[in-house]
Amino acid sequence: MKQISLPKKGISKEEVLSNLRSFKSGDADWHDGRMFGLIYNAGLDVEEMVKEAYATYMFENALSPFAFPSLLKMETEFISMVSALFGGDDETVGSMTSGGTESILMAVKAAREWARAKRPEIKIPELIAPITIHPAWNKAADFLGLKIVLTPVDEEFKADVKAMQEVINENTIMLGASAVTYPHGVVDPINELGAIAEEKNLWLHVDACLGGYILPFLRTSGYDIPPFDFSVPGVQSMSVDIHKYGYTSKGASTVLYRNKELRQHQFFVYTDWPGGVYATPCLSGARPGGAIASAWAMLHYLGEEGFLKLARAARETTLGLMEGIRRIPGLFILGNPPATVFAFGSNEINVYKLAVKLKERGWHIDSQHRPPSLHMTISPAHEKIIEPFLKDLQESAKEVSGTDSGEASGMAALYGMMGTMPDRKMARTFALQYLNDLYRLK
Ligand SMILES: Cc1ncc(COP(=O)(O)O)c(C=O)c1O
Repeated sequence: MKQISLPKKGISKEEVLSNLRSFKSGDADWHDGRMFGLIYNAGLDVEEMVKEAYATYMFENALSPFAFPSLLKMETEFISMVSALFGGDDETVGSMTSGGTESILMAVKAAREWARAKRPEIKIPELIAPITIHPAWNKAADFLGLKIVLTPVDEEFKADVKAMQEVINENTIMLGASAVTYPHGVVDPINELGAIAEEKNLWLHVDACLGGYILPFLRTSGYDIPPFDFSVPGVQSMSVDIHKYGYTSKGASTVLYRNKELRQHQFFVYTDWPGGVYATPCLSGARPGGAIASAWAMLHYLGEEGFLKLARAARETTLGLMEGIRRIPGLFILGNPPATVFAFGSNEINVYKLAVKLKERGWHIDSQHRPPSLHMTISPAHEKIIEPFLKDLQESAKEVSGTDSGEASGMAALYGMMGTMPDRKMARTFALQYLNDLYRLK
């Protein structure tokens, strides 16, 4: 492995920027709507707004609310507006974090400290969640020393409430559920889980990282959206990512709590450091002012009217795509997704090969396993691609129908193999090696 070192002399700004621009030429071009994940695209005007708002606070550091009171003002106003969107009241509080993973990590940490205070006899606290919960939960449990117990989902890919109930024991402190789930875009039965959480005195966290900025606006628009927020009494905390369907750049999410007594368990305070008393609300020390400013800016720029318009456009596009996919012989939608995220599968076609064919036609689409499916996250900007995508999908499906399953290559081989590997330890070793090889200089 060769090493490169710091250049002896700098180069001009023009050259640096020209290098950066040219690096991008090999990346996915998300502007044209040919990607169905990673980026949430609401159009150029929104993009420009985020850029300018971010740049205005690019270097400010929210670590110090005393140095930058304007960031504190924006963060507290932002949390208050977001709380109101999710059935919160004057008691609801929260923090801005760097993303969904940090928000979930913070909620699990708060639940752990809450349980330590109330039930100190528990040695290894347990959290129960359906298998479709985002891996950020496994990460949080791993980092924080909790045992995560994963339960099956029902035929619509929603949490099986009975299965969750059955594994509650004297060490259980927390239940996790999603609105919407990443793999299939469905809302778990939050009402039922809330009732159990109340009865058993458990902490219920709703992971609305993905669906948070879509579901309330779809409900206002008349779509049938089940209860998923603080209007359900058993919900103690929620996570909601403005850097997904809030269309800001990466690095901004919110963790919300029903009241400040619950949130207090999230904070970290160290009083003996020679550098002074160190007290931070979240995991991060330094926090980017730009992320807070662009989140605040986006709520004001779009307003309810703008969010409603974008949510409707994304849902209508989703409905158009799902209808077209259902019409293609051999393909079906998994479950009954109520928002703008869904997956499709097939009992006749190898969907991993289908993804490879779509990639050849310039469409970037993620593969999933257990069961095999392709994943779609629909943005308002996908409005324009319904027809060309469905046309290419139909042709690709024809091309792979009846092909020999032994022919799988690339992604098909990877997912096919990982999904069917009976020994999960092997899959883990494979993934670790893959990461090691990926993150090294080539
Ligand atoms: C439901 C859900 N929760 C949590 C996360 C993690 O969010 P992040 O990648 O911002 O850490 C995601 C990401 O897609 C998600 O879909």
